[in-house]
Amino acid sequence: MEVISYGRQTVEDDDIRAVADALGREMITQGPLVEAFEEALCEYTGAKYSVVCSSGTAALILAYLAAKERDGDGVITSTITFVATANSALHSGLNTAFCDIDPETHNIDPDVLEMTCSELSDVRIITPVHFAGLPCDMERIRAVADKRGLVVIEDACHALGAEWRDSAGGWHKVGSSSHSEMTVFSFHPVKSITTCEGGAVTTNDLHLYRCLKELREHGITREGSRFDYPGNGPWYYEMHTPGYNFRLSDIQCALGLSQLGKLDRFVARRREIASLYTELLRGCDFITTPAEDGNRRSAWHLYTVSIDFEGLGVDKARWFDSMKQRGVRLQVHYIPVHLQPYYRRRYGYTEGDFPVAEEFYRTEVSLPIYPLLTDDEVELIAAEVVETLTVLQPA
Ligand SMILES: Cc1ncc(COP(=O)(O)O)c(C=O)c1O
Repeated sequence: MEVISYGRQTVEDDDIRAVADALGREMITQGPLVEAFEEALCEYTGAKYSVVCSSGTAALILAYLAAKERDGDGVITSTITFVATANSALHSGLNTAFCDIDPETHNIDPDVLEMTCSELSDVRIITPVHFAGLPCDMERIRAVADKRGLVVIEDACHALGAEWRDSAGGWHKVGSSSHSEMTVFSFHPVKSITTCEGGAVTTNDLHLYRCLKELREHGITREGSRFDYPGNGPWYYEMHTPGYNFRLSDIQCALGLSQLGKLDRFVARRREIASLYTELLRGCDFITTPAEDGNRRSAWHLYTVSIDFEGLGVDKARWFDSMKQRGVRLQVHYIPVHLQPYYRRRYGYTEGDFPVAEEFYRTEVSLPIYPLLTDDEVELIAAEVVETLTVLQPA
């Protein structure tokens, strides 16, 4: 039996040829394809600068380090995210605080964010997560940040290819960083495009761009204008901060460039799949399908549904298993990060702290969505969802 999982890459023949060509070049890392991919990302998103790196996690660490003023500065992020959003802050010497979500969008709730910011004294950075690919309310978040002089780093690991409309009617591509200091992407295979592992940060700030680039490459600069001492030869470089090797290879950038050319097609297919699911599940009063209003175009990284397991009298784990037995591997996004044992121990978080997120976790399930999924498969999955839930209901 073929198993359908919740996400997978779309790699086509010309992607494979692009990688093979890159492998035959003289420079297989730190060559010209790195800058070519960065330029293409700037062109797509509209940001002035972009720095590609080895993963979305590496991109978050670079962004946090570039934004940090002092150790112990605080980051506020949504509790409905992958642990990397929070862990990367800790790895950068920052503290993490969590915030509850909006029940409709499942993104950080700007009202709760405002309250949390005023309760915590050490906050320096807000990291909104465009959950499932749906853009956050960036105008509200920018306003909250500006009131307190905070930095905004968008975690857009789900949202390359998404767009949102501002209150004056103008559209913004996620990644343009029009309402943030930096935006972070992941190119993991289940994301909008892939470089196998990989990530990027986009920004419009030259100073941040230079910091990000240096931190990606051991903290080294070769720019004469940045030297503290006179250079004594063409080999001379200086290191001002201990950085990392978070580089992305030319081979991976070749794949990224090839994939980026297909991004709009991939997102359009994800959108079609999402509409089909919504249409097929419309009649089920025990399933809530995801929201998308006229001011946000999701990248549809995930198709999340909320199921009233309690009302149905169905055990979520048992149902999950029975879908697996029928060849459909579902996922849950996410276990609220504040409930992870580490964060409970470190900061004293406990159940009940973020009731909207916790209720979402109880009911949420991610159905498979990726460009190669066929309409027939979507119809089959939707039918299996309804049938298995009906079968498992107590008589
Ligand atoms: C919201 C979010 N942030 C960060 C990451 C980390 O990205 P990567 O896996 O490329 O390190 C992920 C990856 O799944 C993610 O979903």
